[in-house]
Amino acid sequence: MVSTSLPGGTWTLGDLPVTRFGYGAMQLAGPWVMGPPADHGGALAVLRAAVELGITHIDTSEAYGPHVTNQLIREALHPYPDSLHIVTKVGANRDQQGGWPPARDPESLRRSVHENLETLGLDVLDLVNLRLGDAAGPQPGSVAEAFETLVGLQQQGLIRHLGVSNATPEQVAEAQAIAPIVCVQNMYNLAHRQDDELIDALAEQGIAYVPFFPLGGFSPLQSSVLSTVAARLEAAPMSVALAWLLQRSPNILLIPGTSSATHLHENIAGAALSLSDDDLAELDKIGR
Ligand SMILES: NC(=O)c1ccc[n+]([C@@H]2O[C@H](COP(=O)([O-])OP(=O)(O)OC[C@H]3O[C@@H](n4cnc5c(N)ncnc54)[C@H](OP(=O)(O)O)[C@@H]3O)[C@@H](O)[C@H]2O)c1
Repeated sequence: MVSTSLPGGTWTLGDLPVTRFGYGAMQLAGPWVMGPPADHGGALAVLRAAVELGITHIDTSEAYGPHVTNQLIREALHPYPDSLHIVTKVGANRDQQGGWPPARDPESLRRSVHENLETLGLDVLDLVNLRLGDAAGPQPGSVAEAFETLVGLQQQGLIRHLGVSNATPEQVAEAQAIAPIVCVQNMYNLAHRQDDELIDALAEQGIAYVPFFPLGGFSPLQSSVLSTVAARLEAAPMSVALAWLLQRSPNILLIPGTSSATHLHENIAGAALSLSDDDLAELDKIGR
């Protein structure tokens, strides 16, 4: 059992205890998640600070850089503490323009799992999310062939747990009919609330919901209501956005991204903010 002073306490992903306050490593690669970071030493320092502060859940992908983020994680943290769980995803490649073309055929998925094992320096991946849809969001369509490929790799002992990402509720259900999942990683934040019903349904099943772009991603969250509530609480808008997610549902795990140790500290302190019922009612107006 992990004990933590991080806001939100802990959650168990399958059989893996993690802090609900995690870290998303995507922003460590170069601009638009291509190439190396401008500050290599700074990127390593952020990763080490995350672990020193008690974070036990890091989110990554072989597609970040590509390869760059996984290599930074390995350089900064390998050999990994037993308590640390690195979650990766497969299902998209990168092209020369920085796009994210789907790569969900069985051969691409197998290759990507092996690449993740190699760049992270692991024998088994703790949790692999099958990334669906495209840059515009989830798209309908069967996930059976791709998900069954990952189940096969799980049965070979290369993956402990599975999840889906950028998925419609129908795709989540289709995957669950094939094999258990321990998380769904979709876009969700104060202003982007399409998954409200899905989050509640997953909470009832004890499955984690891990919002990507919790702070708005490449376009930081901006809202006059958010600014007003933050000013009243004498807090940063980013702090309010993270605290709101932690209070929204106990199955929500945070993976805010940052390339700055200062922001990492600010986000941990900020997510501990306690929001009153009145604050929550006001913030609810943003995304509804
Ligand atoms: N499954 C998927 O398809 C998918 C898609 C996208 C992302 N993800 C995952 O989700 C994670 C989170 O998403 P994200 O990093 O793209 O977006 P995010 O967490 O919503 O926002 C990150 C941005 O917020 C800024 N930021 C962070 N803390 C701040 C603070 N205290 N004050 C001001 N600015 C702050 C960061 O800039 P600084 O670097 O300057 O702090 C960065 O530009 C990623 O790291 C990745 O692991 C998954």
